[in-house]
Amino acid sequence: MMHASQLDTDGRLRHLLGLDGLPRVAIERLLDDAARLRAQWREHGMLPQALAGRTVVNLFFEASTRTRTSFDLAARRLGALVVNFDIASSSTSKGETVEDTLATLEAMDADAFVVRHKENGTPAMLAAHARRAAILNAGDGNRAHPTQGLLDLLAIRDRKGRVDGLSVAICGDIRHSRVARSDVHGLRALGAASIRLCGPAPLLPDASEFPDCAIEDDMDKALDSADVVIMLRIQRERIEHLPNLDADSYHARYGLTRARLARAKPDALVMHPGPINRGVEIASDVADGAQSAILDQVANGVFVRMAALAQLLER
Ligand code: CP
Repeated sequence: MMHASQLDTDGRLRHLLGLDGLPRVAIERLLDDAARLRAQWREHGMLPQALAGRTVVNLFFEASTRTRTSFDLAARRLGALVVNFDIASSSTSKGETVEDTLATLEAMDADAFVVRHKENGTPAMLAAHARRAAILNAGDGNRAHPTQGLLDLLAIRDRKGRVDGLSVAICGDIRHSRVARSDVHGLRALGAASIRLCGPAPLLPDASEFPDCAIEDDMDKALDSADVVIMLRIQRERIEHLPNLDADSYHARYGLTRARLARAKPDALVMHPGPINRGVEIASDVADGAQSAILDQVANGVFVRMAALAQLLER
C-alpha cells in the first residue's frame, strides 16, 4: 500500500501523507482529538504544552496563507519551537536537493517537517528519507492535502452531526485539485452516501480515478438535493484557454449563486477551502451567508493540525 509508512506496526501515525490508506478509526481519532483540543482552547484560552521541546519546520515550496499559518499557530500553541524555513534565501536556491535540506535540518534535531510542494509525491519521498522526523503533507501537486480533508470532515460532522449517508457535491477544477482528492478519500472512509464531482468537462478527472463518484458537467444536476456543496477555487489561467469560458461565463454556468444553491437541500452546507474568487466560483452573498462554513473550516484547520502534530510528536 502506498501509504503503509503513515502508520507504524501498532497502527499509530508515523507520518501524515494522505487520507487514502488511513482507516476510518485513524481519521476519527484525529477528528476527535481536534474537537477536544478546540473545546479546551475555547474554554481556557490555553492548552497543555504537549509539544514543549519539540521543533517543527514549515517547508513550503508553494504559497500558502491558511495551511502555513495554521500549522504555525497549532505548533506554537502546543509549545513547540517553529522554524518557518525561507526557501528563497536558503541553499535550495543554490541547487541543494530537498532530501539534503531535510537531512541537514534533521541533523539539527528538527522533529517534524510540514511540506508543501508542487510535485506529487514529494512528502512521501521525504518520509522515505527521514531518519527520525515525522513528515506532514501540507499539499503536494494535485495528489493530496490531508489536513484540508480532515478540517472539511470536521466542519461537516459539526454542522450535520455525521458524514455517514450524506450527499456531497464537489464543484470546480476537480482534475487539478488535491483538495477534491483528499475530500473524496475522507468522505468515502466516513460513509458518505454519494459524491458528485462537477465542473467543465476539461476540468473533470478520468472516471477511472473515481469509480464510486458521479461525474457531471451540469452544475444544476450536481447540486440536486445535496447535503453539502464544496466549491473549489478556479484558476483563471486554466479557464482562459477553454472555448467560451472566461470568469463571467464560468460564474454563469458553474458559480454558486443563491438561486443555484436552492437546488440543494434547504439546509445544505456551503464550503470552500480558500482562497476564494468572489463572483467567479462563488457569489459573495453565498460565501458570507448563513449556510457557509468557510470560516469554520479555517478555524478547524488549527485544531486538526494540532491533533496531527500531537499524535506524531507527543512522547
Ligand atoms: N486551503 C488552502 O490550502 O489554502 P492555502 O493555500 O492558503 O494554504
